[in-house]
Amino acid sequence: MTESHLPPLPSVPALRPRRLRDRDWTRRLVAENRLGIDDLIWPIFVHDGSGSAPIPSMPGVERLSIDAAVAAAREAEQLGIPAIALFPATDPGLKTADGREATNPDNLICRTVRAIKAGTGNIGILCDVALDPYTSHGHDGLLQDDEILNDESVAVLVEQALVQARAGCDIIAPSDMMDGRVAAIREALEAEGFRNVKIMAYAAKYASAFYGPFRDAVGSSGNLGGGDKRTYQMNPGNGDEALREVALDIAEGADMVMVKPGMPYLDICWRVKQAFGLPTFAYQVSGEYAMLAGAAERGWLDRTRVAWESLLAFKRAGCDGVLTYFARDIARMIAEGKRQP
Ligand code: PBG
Repeated sequence: MTESHLPPLPSVPALRPRRLRDRDWTRRLVAENRLGIDDLIWPIFVHDGSGSAPIPSMPGVERLSIDAAVAAAREAEQLGIPAIALFPATDPGLKTADGREATNPDNLICRTVRAIKAGTGNIGILCDVALDPYTSHGHDGLLQDDEILNDESVAVLVEQALVQARAGCDIIAPSDMMDGRVAAIREALEAEGFRNVKIMAYAAKYASAFYGPFRDAVGSSGNLGGGDKRTYQMNPGNGDEALREVALDIAEGADMVMVKPGMPYLDICWRVKQAFGLPTFAYQVSGEYAMLAGAAERGWLDRTRVAWESLLAFKRAGCDGVLTYFARDIARMIAEGKRQP
């Protein structure tokens, strides 16, 4: 709304906005947005080792063994977190130029999905579809000379989605940004009878430097060798293009859409939700987590309060939920009956 459309406002004392802020109970009564456990999706990193390994650029986040991932999923289920997202730190010895481990039905992700499915009853499992945890070059698709091939990559991504669905994955989340992958995956899922496997498309995914710590976590940062993903992920300066990308993914069969990264792209979240009204999610990515958690570790920010505030901002921006590394911490707080700090 531009200023010229605003009605003339009364002034003090007719209008004192502070009246509604003077007590905790009034603030709660007029709160427009709230954060709840149902808004959270918790991303978890798994590795093939035993025990857990810290991720230095993500203080407080660890790579978990399959057993530990099952325990984490059980806790998430008990807390009422609706879904977890799994990411593999693949053994470097299994990474190849064609990323073929992605389509191995016994790869780390598929084994983890089966173990979690056997150990839980009421929590959704989301799996990323992209080749970067499996390729020796760290790209999300197949590389030929200097080009990431589109249609050839889509064919492999479809196979990857299918092994994940067969393992029991509930939500397929293509994060690769190849053109046409949602349609191809949807068709393949239908053909195998996976009618209720959901697709959450990383629809507007930007070529962002905020993914750095994630690439440390899955061990792909060194592999990219200073390369970037700008020929398939979006230019951070573009907004209209995000709406086109989302429209395409919806037309191709996405049930839910995602904007990524989150906090620097709240305008995109808002535009996407306004334009399409579909379940809309944001990914508060590793670099956003690292900024907040790293500063908190130094005593520069209050971890709990910045986590809460940043997540509430996604709700205000129209998101139905957020993928966040803070999910368990926040869910524990809410489960203990704590309110907005
Ligand atoms: C894989 C993928 C990435 C993230 C999620 N899926 C990294 C990338 O695209 O390079 C990033 C998540 C995060 O930073 O927390 N394509």
